[in-house]
Amino acid sequence: MINIGIIGTGFGAKVQVPGFRAVRGARVLGIAGRSAAKTAAVAKELDIPRPFSSWKKLIDDPKIDVVSIVSPPRYHKEMALYAAHCKKHIFCEKPLAMSATEAKKMLSAVKRAGVVHGIDFEFRNLPGLVVLRGLLAKKTIGGVRHARIAWLTGSRASTNIPLSWQNRKKEGGGVLFSHCSHVIDYMELLFGKIKSVSARLTVAKKNGADAEDTCDMLFRLANGATASVTVSNVLPGASTNMIEVYGDKGSLRLENYDPKDPDFGFRLFHFSLASNKEKEISLKRPKKSNISDTRVLLFRQTAEKFIRAIEKKKKTVPSFVDGLRAQMAMDAVRISDRSGREVLIR
Ligand SMILES: NC(=O)c1ccc[n+]([C@@H]2O[C@H](COP(=O)([O-])OP(=O)(O)OC[C@H]3O[C@@H](n4cnc5c(N)ncnc54)[C@H](OP(=O)(O)O)[C@@H]3O)[C@@H](O)[C@H]2O)c1
Repeated sequence: MINIGIIGTGFGAKVQVPGFRAVRGARVLGIAGRSAAKTAAVAKELDIPRPFSSWKKLIDDPKIDVVSIVSPPRYHKEMALYAAHCKKHIFCEKPLAMSATEAKKMLSAVKRAGVVHGIDFEFRNLPGLVVLRGLLAKKTIGGVRHARIAWLTGSRASTNIPLSWQNRKKEGGGVLFSHCSHVIDYMELLFGKIKSVSARLTVAKKNGADAEDTCDMLFRLANGATASVTVSNVLPGASTNMIEVYGDKGSLRLENYDPKDPDFGFRLFHFSLASNKEKEISLKRPKKSNISDTRVLLFRQTAEKFIRAIEKKKKTVPSFVDGLRAQMAMDAVRISDRSGREVLIR
């Protein structure tokens, strides 16, 4: 049995605990948060045997094999470096770190320690994205000319939502890290390497936040095509998540306008230039299970690969390598926003 210790009582408790529990051979043994009382209450409610009053104590516990870091991004580096020093396998939430410099240090540390490292880019598992990726790989629409991505929600539109770390840049808040990290990760899966970016980051909702809630980005891909991406979570009434890809022989459109089914409510359409017709490609729904939170279903797949990699003493994907790649692109987005120039991603 592989014993997991989770640092974080937010997404960590709601999604990672049931997600790891759904993986054969994994057991959630411990949990840590900043507030000892809150951590103890969460541990009791979720029946987790070992609540820890500090993240260091969780990592120090010799029974913990895997440390899963689900704290605000500002703390990821320090926690990962200590876990690697203690030779623990590490699973880290996205974004991997606050910058590519930090991410590089984390990758070097896990490599030196010889531990398995994974990152939670679980949007790779969206059924619609998996099918879209397969169609692009088969050159169904030929070479890609342009992509347009929009992820627009009103989840933080209200001015009544209290400020938290998610609104503070120095804590790792903002939609670049929370949402665009996923988008940048899947863009490279779908289209190959991103070469450069021109970006504008905006705090559109004026309520004292300093972390961006809206990102407009124009990427140049290594194959010469461009991708325009808009992400915001402060747009009242908005519920759009869509990826349009235009190629030499047609186009593919993956879209979801259903706020009640953000992960599995996607529909996929293929337009063929030859027939001048558009057809819907049916997407599978997940099998009926006792897990009702779709985030857990997506997370479980990434967790499963991670646990199997530990058992087989192999590498897993996505890993800190993918986390660093996304971090380099996000650094470039910030530099472009500040300088007003197009920035190369090396
Ligand atoms: N993959 C995804 O789709 C996804 C979705 C959501 C979140 N996330 C990621 O998960 C991470 C956490 O986000 P969240 O939404 O869970 O935030 P959250 O609800 O605010 O929870 C953060 C947790 O970290 C704890 N914490 C904060 N500072 C700490 C410290 N110095 N030492 C130990 N624990 C500390 C907090 O403890 P207290 O409550 O006691 O302060 C809380 O338990 C972020 O990296 C975020 O990007 C990923």
